[in-house]
Amino acid sequence: MIREDIERLLGEIDALKCKTQKEVEEARVKFLGKKGEVTRLFEEFRTVAPELKREFGKTLNELKQTAAAKIEELKNAVGDEAAASAPKQDLSMPGDPMPLGSRHPVSIVRQEIVDIFRKFGYDVSEGPEIEDDYHVFEALNFPQNHPARDMQDTFFVSAGHLNPLLLRTHTSSVQVRTMEKMPLPIRVICPGRVFRNEAISARAHCIFHQVEGLYVDENVTFADLKQAILLFAREMFGAETEIRMRPSYFPFTEPSAEVDVSCNICHGKGCNICKGTGWLEILGCGMVDPNVLEASGIDSRKYSGFAFGMGLERIAMLKWRVNDLRHYFENDMRFLSEFSTSTEV
Ligand code: PHE
Repeated sequence: MIREDIERLLGEIDALKCKTQKEVEEARVKFLGKKGEVTRLFEEFRTVAPELKREFGKTLNELKQTAAAKIEELKNAVGDEAAASAPKQDLSMPGDPMPLGSRHPVSIVRQEIVDIFRKFGYDVSEGPEIEDDYHVFEALNFPQNHPARDMQDTFFVSAGHLNPLLLRTHTSSVQVRTMEKMPLPIRVICPGRVFRNEAISARAHCIFHQVEGLYVDENVTFADLKQAILLFAREMFGAETEIRMRPSYFPFTEPSAEVDVSCNICHGKGCNICKGTGWLEILGCGMVDPNVLEASGIDSRKYSGFAFGMGLERIAMLKWRVNDLRHYFENDMRFLSEFSTSTEV
């Protein structure tokens, strides 16, 4: 009878299948537990005739070992199965990348312009954004009530008295401050943020950025101005770039001009960027009015100078063909990340 039981149990143990650790434990209790089937056979073994004890003892021990080994095997296998169905973790995988910031297009253009003029020997000069009327207008030959003040719609910080505070409408104010305190000759560029009370549209904004330049020395002529602008334009827009000057008016320069560069998109043939003209307006310039030199204590009979000024948003629009100025101020990541590869300029 024991023999049959052993045979049966061996068969059962061999066919044993478990899906969970709980089932393995149940199987262990069933066969090897205190009241388990193998344990029960050991009890029965006591009643076996002595001459058979040797034989049965051996097979019974084998059965116990087989059962223990099978349970152990199942324990491990079920463990593996559980691990296999768990989400896979590849510890060699790189971590989630941190998005890298990038330079703002206006900042990229500003740096490019500053680098070009540094090569020409210009220093960078900066000044306050909240300025007084004197440095933004008066010293630049805009007399009180002069109609030219209307060219630059001003935000006033404090109105009413003789020299009100206001948000600078151009960085020419920095040029005045430079002429007041720096020894001659002067060669500076003045990058900075400026403010004008304009309705916001695709072409205009109440905040924008300028780089203005000033060169004052003995015998500075219009030819020097033209050469400086031509060299700048070729560095900025490419070696084949041509410039053309159109007469213009600014209170602080005489004569004054507006400068166009040849359209580097259609190369003069005419396209929708240059509105079919082949030319793109980029800056205003002129010979510093003697009144402006004198206001800052510079002898206009001995010294002369030229000045120029350009809007950075406009240059960036031309460079990257951006069609709406408002993109520069909205901080939309989809727009800003377009420029991430250009940060090294
Ligand atoms: N300050 C002028 C502007 O803001 C630009 C300019 C600078 C023109 C220097 C001539 C000379 O429009």
